[in-house]
Amino acid sequence: MGYKILNQDVQNFITANLDKDLHTLLLKKSPFPEVTMQEIVQQIKGKQVAHKKFPFLLQEGIIFPPQLNLEQSSSEKTAVYKSSFLKGKRFIDLTCGFGIDAYYLSQNFEEITLIEQNTDLLKIVEHNWTVLGKRAEFINVKLEDFLNKNKENFDVIYLDPARRDSSKNKVFLLEDLSPDILEIQDHLLSISNEIVIKLSPLIDLKYLVFVLKNVSKIAIIAVKNDVKEVVVYLSHEDPGKVICHSVNLESGESDFIFQFGEEENAHSEYTEPERFIYLPNNSILKAGTFNLISERFGVQKLHPNTHIYTSKEKVENFPGRIIEMEVIENKQIKKKEQYNIISKNYPLKPDEIKKKYGIKDGGERYLIFTQSKKGKIILKSI
Ligand SMILES: C[S@@+](CC[C@H](N)C(=O)[O-])C[C@H]1O[C@@H](n2cnc3c(N)ncnc32)[C@H](O)[C@@H]1O
Repeated sequence: MGYKILNQDVQNFITANLDKDLHTLLLKKSPFPEVTMQEIVQQIKGKQVAHKKFPFLLQEGIIFPPQLNLEQSSSEKTAVYKSSFLKGKRFIDLTCGFGIDAYYLSQNFEEITLIEQNTDLLKIVEHNWTVLGKRAEFINVKLEDFLNKNKENFDVIYLDPARRDSSKNKVFLLEDLSPDILEIQDHLLSISNEIVIKLSPLIDLKYLVFVLKNVSKIAIIAVKNDVKEVVVYLSHEDPGKVICHSVNLESGESDFIFQFGEEENAHSEYTEPERFIYLPNNSILKAGTFNLISERFGVQKLHPNTHIYTSKEKVENFPGRIIEMEVIENKQIKKKEQYNIISKNYPLKPDEIKKKYGIKDGGERYLIFTQSKKGKIILKSI
């Protein structure tokens, strides 16, 4: 299919307007009779998002879909991480979307099938994959219809369900997604040995293990300490346990690997702050392995509800931030000094602390307002 947006003059116009304000641009008339300004802006937006999220698509001939499809796509970084565990002959992505996950996850497979209900979106993916020199079978159908007719088996089935609505305050359940995994999980397990499902970081891990069958692994994936995805793996090869990975990409930290349920038998010891203070990364906090990291890394906790840890000697490989600190009195805080303010299990929020002590935010040093077992404390970086 020929996309008029790829005409050289239009592409030159797009390149020349990459850093322009898109709202202002939208009010102007397109200089080209064959494409609208809305179509042009869609491509500029796509390139802007690609720059941050999937730079491998910043090349000639690539078409970008509307913003919603860009937002729903995974990032190149998380897709590359997920791909490192997958290998086989036949790969199918039942919710292809813009195909970022599929592009990376299918790299160690010979036969690739992509299912997507959105016709225009799948056409774009097919066009882009041709430009990128990657082959697949593109099937424009609802995945339920595909599954009903399908007689094949696959080594890996991948799904990245879309949210049915955007109400943010509701409890996050699998029934809120399209497709509803609970309805199709038996079918999926009957045609594949490995089903990989990407979910929102808001999903509750205990709920997942309770409602899904054959869960073998869960990965909590953060990029630079921002938790982006929870990925759950269903498999017939029943190891009798669920292996979990807390991952913080681009941090230099190793994955924290544990068995689901291990936390229940783990214990922390408590102490007043020592020289080294540890703030676990967000993928650890999401996993809720508060006592387990204390045991594994030999660091002690300040308080049952304060997920801050401490030790006399430095534990280098702790998955999180390590700061050398000392306990101070509040009168030692000088007005107008600059600190990164952290408040955990403390009655005042960072903004209220800033106001109360007349201090500025930022810089290299830290102030932590928290509680140990003895009561409220303030820690200052040395
Ligand atoms: C979150 S997006 C997938 C993004 C993709 N993983 C990526 O990295 O670009 C989910 C996609 O699943 C498609 N989808 C949802 N329910 C579907 C169904 N029942 N049948 C086929 N496609 C479906 C949606 O149209 C949407 O494009």
